[in-house]
Amino acid sequence: MNYQHAFHAGNFADLFKHALLVALLADFRRSAQPFNVIDSHAGEGVYDLEGEEARRTGEGAAAVQLMSARDVPAALRPLRQAIERLNHGRPLRFYPGSPWLVGDALRGGDRGLACEMNPAAASELRRALASYRRLEIVAGDGWATATRRAAPAPAPLLVLIDPPFEAGDDGARAVEALGRILSRNGSAIVAVWAPLKDLASFDALASDLEDAAGDRPVLVAELRLRALADPMRMNGCAMIVVNPPIGLAETAREAGRWIVSTLGEPGRAIEVRESA
Ligand SMILES: C[S@@+](CC[C@H](N)C(=O)[O-])C[C@H]1O[C@@H](n2cnc3c(N)ncnc32)[C@H](O)[C@@H]1O
Repeated sequence: MNYQHAFHAGNFADLFKHALLVALLADFRRSAQPFNVIDSHAGEGVYDLEGEEARRTGEGAAAVQLMSARDVPAALRPLRQAIERLNHGRPLRFYPGSPWLVGDALRGGDRGLACEMNPAAASELRRALASYRRLEIVAGDGWATATRRAAPAPAPLLVLIDPPFEAGDDGARAVEALGRILSRNGSAIVAVWAPLKDLASFDALASDLEDAAGDRPVLVAELRLRALADPMRMNGCAMIVVNPPIGLAETAREAGRWIVSTLGEPGRAIEVRESA
C-alpha cells in the first residue's frame, strides 16, 4: 500500500471528482431530510500544497489555476468556495480532500463515515477533521466497512468509492462493492472514480459497473486531458455515478469543459453519457 494522495492533491482529477462530489452533497442539502455519506477511501482529509510531496510533483497547480482564474463556470464555483472556506479566505495553501468536503456539508442530523486503511494517513485524517463531530473516521478497510455500514433503504445515502487503482483488483472490488451497497439500499447514489489510461480497460470497468447497477440510471462522465496515446500515463479520469440526481450531467459537462480547456493538451475531450 504505497499510494499517497499528497503527491496528487489538487490535480485535474481531484478538481473533477470534487466538483461532482460537492454538487451531490448540495443536492442532498436541498431537502430537509437527513442524509448519510460514506467515503470508502478517504485519504488524509487536508493537503498542504506547499508540502514536500505536492512540490515534488507540482500537480496541485490545477487547484492554483482554479483559484486564480478570473471567472469559472457555475459548476466549479461551489468547490472554489469550499477551498476558500478551508483557507479562511487567505491565499490558497491547503486543498481539501473528499472527507473534508463531506464534513463541511453535514448538517445537524446528517452522518458521515470516512474509511482510511493506511495508519499514517488515518491518523492525519483524524487530526485534520477533529472538529467535524458528525463524521466518523474508521482506520481500516473501506471495502468491508462501506458495504457493512451502508444505511439501508429508504435512507438517503451517498457512497464515494475512490481507491488508488494501484492494486490490480481495485476495479473488480468497486464493482462488487457497488452490487452489495445497492442490495442494501437500491436508491443509494454511488459515485466511483476511475483513472483513464487506455480505453479498453476503462470501457470494461464502466460496463461492469453498469451491469452491477442493473436497471438503475448511470452517468458516465469521462474527462480526457490528452489523447490516450500512452496507456502508462493517467490521460484522464472518470466519475461513474449510479442513481445520479437531475442536473449532475450538466455539472460534469461544464466543470469538465473548463478543466480540459484550461489544463488539457491536444486530444482533450469531455464526454458525458447517461443510461436510463
Ligand atoms: C485516491 S486516495 C483517496 C483520495 C480521497 N478520496 C480524496 O478525494 O481526497 C485513495 C486512498 O485509499 C487508501 N486505501 C487504500 N486501500 C484502502 C482500503 N482497502 N480501505 C480504505 N482505504 C484504502 C489509500 O491509503 C489512499 O489514502
